[in-house]
Amino acid sequence: MCGIFAYLNYLTPKSRHEVLELLLNGLKRLEYRGYDSTGVAIDSPQTSDIVMVKRCGKVKVLEDAINEHFSGKEYDEPVLTHVGIAHTRWATHGVPCETNSHPQRSDDENSFVVVHNGIVTNYKDVKTFLEKRGYVFESDTDTEVIAKLVHHLWKKHPGYSFRELVEQVIQQLEGAFAIAIKSKHFPGECVASRRGSPLLVGIKTKTRLSTDHIPILYGKDEKSPQTCEKDTEAAKAKVLPRTESTSEFMPLEEKEVEYFFASDASAVIEHTNRVIYLEDDDVAAVRDGTLSIHRLKKCLDDPHAREITTLKMEIQQIMKGNYDYFMLKEIFEQPESVVNTMRGRVRFDSKSVVLGGIKEFIPEIKRCRRLMLIGCGTSYHSAVATRQLLEELTELPVMVELASDFLDRNTPIFRDDVCFFISQSGETADSLMALRYCKQRGALIVGITNTVGSSICRESHCGVHINAGPEIGVASTKAYTSQFISLVMFALVMSEDRLSLQQRRLEIIQALYELPERIRQVLKLDSQVQELAKDLFQHKSLLIMGRGYNFATCLEGALKVKELTYMHSEGIMAGELKHGPLALIDDRMPVMMIVLRDPVYIKCINALQQVTSRKGCPIIICEEGDEETKSYSSRSLEIPRTVDCLQGILTVIPMQLLSYHIAVLRGCDVDCPRNLAKSVTVE
Ligand code: F6R
Repeated sequence: MCGIFAYLNYLTPKSRHEVLELLLNGLKRLEYRGYDSTGVAIDSPQTSDIVMVKRCGKVKVLEDAINEHFSGKEYDEPVLTHVGIAHTRWATHGVPCETNSHPQRSDDENSFVVVHNGIVTNYKDVKTFLEKRGYVFESDTDTEVIAKLVHHLWKKHPGYSFRELVEQVIQQLEGAFAIAIKSKHFPGECVASRRGSPLLVGIKTKTRLSTDHIPILYGKDEKSPQTCEKDTEAAKAKVLPRTESTSEFMPLEEKEVEYFFASDASAVIEHTNRVIYLEDDDVAAVRDGTLSIHRLKKCLDDPHAREITTLKMEIQQIMKGNYDYFMLKEIFEQPESVVNTMRGRVRFDSKSVVLGGIKEFIPEIKRCRRLMLIGCGTSYHSAVATRQLLEELTELPVMVELASDFLDRNTPIFRDDVCFFISQSGETADSLMALRYCKQRGALIVGITNTVGSSICRESHCGVHINAGPEIGVASTKAYTSQFISLVMFALVMSEDRLSLQQRRLEIIQALYELPERIRQVLKLDSQVQELAKDLFQHKSLLIMGRGYNFATCLEGALKVKELTYMHSEGIMAGELKHGPLALIDDRMPVMMIVLRDPVYIKCINALQQVTSRKGCPIIICEEGDEETKSYSSRSLEIPRTVDCLQGILTVIPMQLLSYHIAVLRGCDVDCPRNLAKSVTVE
């Protein structure tokens, strides 16, 4: 969803052109999150005013507009200290257009300009309040109230610092947000805050950082944002007593320093690997080159400082390399990404598995009433894919839930439940809400995420990082196979002391060892899959059928086809065929069927016969050398043999490739499918 990127250089000379280039690059790194419009704000070289350029469409369109708009020589002159803010917007309130794009402004003079992710749910009340005080709104966004409310408070309390103004503002806001604000009245300063939407601060200094943490400065005022007057009917913007630092620490003070505020690490990694992940209701302010982090109220278990984290991410990981699309690169990375998921965890010599992040919790997990696996989209499919193995190896009831539906049902949760939250981004709003719901009810929370420092990661009691590396393509591919493997590893850990399961465990561990090579073999099918795509890309629909361990591949394959190609596609449980879907079959309906030599083979053959006897011509995914199964169709893809419970990793790869090739043939935007976002931070 929306992306924030802000840049502040202090005593580090940069021309406005350089600043703009930095801002545009930051936005390009955030493009993958999904967006429909963009904008930037910088200081004017002639006056003390702020100038903004906003455009509907891609960052490239903004770049062209910037080149046209900021062409003068004055933009080449170095400036010692400067703040620029930039944004990619994914429309929620108001259509994508220039006026609704961010930055949003306080007034005609651009006194305060703000970029925002998330949704301010009480914006109508705040808007009415401000309208009564003479403010005229120009956009349909919820964001505009933030800019105008800061302005209103600034007029009312001229002695307040920029940070104090923002603190007052966020107390009036309900909903989720990450914001970065710039003001012509506070040149060289930037204030940012978050609640529910991710935001981090990158720090770049010439010398090694003099500290590995930033102290949190707590206000004297004891009213928390929750207990302060809510002003719901009209955000009366009552101002709380000013906050004063009570900390004995000094904030981060560096001589020459650059700060980056961004929605995620991929936007800052080319500049610095030192970041601070902000927590909800943190207010991060930079003034005179000094970064300080403030909170209004200190709770008992609140830390004294925010740690500066060193990112392990490499710049190459967020570049396309020789591939045309990130998605293709990520599909082909799977032989390595699965190894990274297993590294240091599966010990092939001793045939054992250790998951450091949940080790201490295993006795508690073994005593639980049931396991609940909760996620959305592809992450949910990884739960479907591994449920059977988890049931087998843990001998516990396993429930698999879509986070949104789970919340709609107010599902009963008990203290002795163990709830797994599976999320690539770790920021998906539905999954995060479900996590908080379960945590409140006393369940043990296990996070399975790919993003270090993400909300799900931080709010879980324990967890497994899937270590798939950054996934930039909106369509999830390598994260799926790594989530799959993480859950398989968990099942292996849970069954370590079960004598009756030892043979099965050994068989799975051996198959995990061989998996990277098997994946390489499957990837060699690429040109065959491309040929199949040529047969399929002009069709309207594609049915994908299978059962048992491969049902999840049908769901995941259909999701990939839908999101990338905009074709209709449906994953069908082969056992359900005669309960309805068989009516769809004729000689024109494209069908794929997964028929592997596993315990449900005979049942799959049954389904295959039902399809062929209605003149259906399925494309079959079968095991290498399985001539008998191949004989049912003229088109097939042969995948190498592996243990039944890992087949889903090998069968999903042809589906990933197929959706990719169909998307290319249909001229779709592979990495950024229409209407979709990488990180779905709104419900
Ligand atoms: C599909 C896809 C989505 C995500 C879903 C959950 O390719 O990427 O279905 O899987 O939005 O996202 P995460 O895993 O970040 O919670």
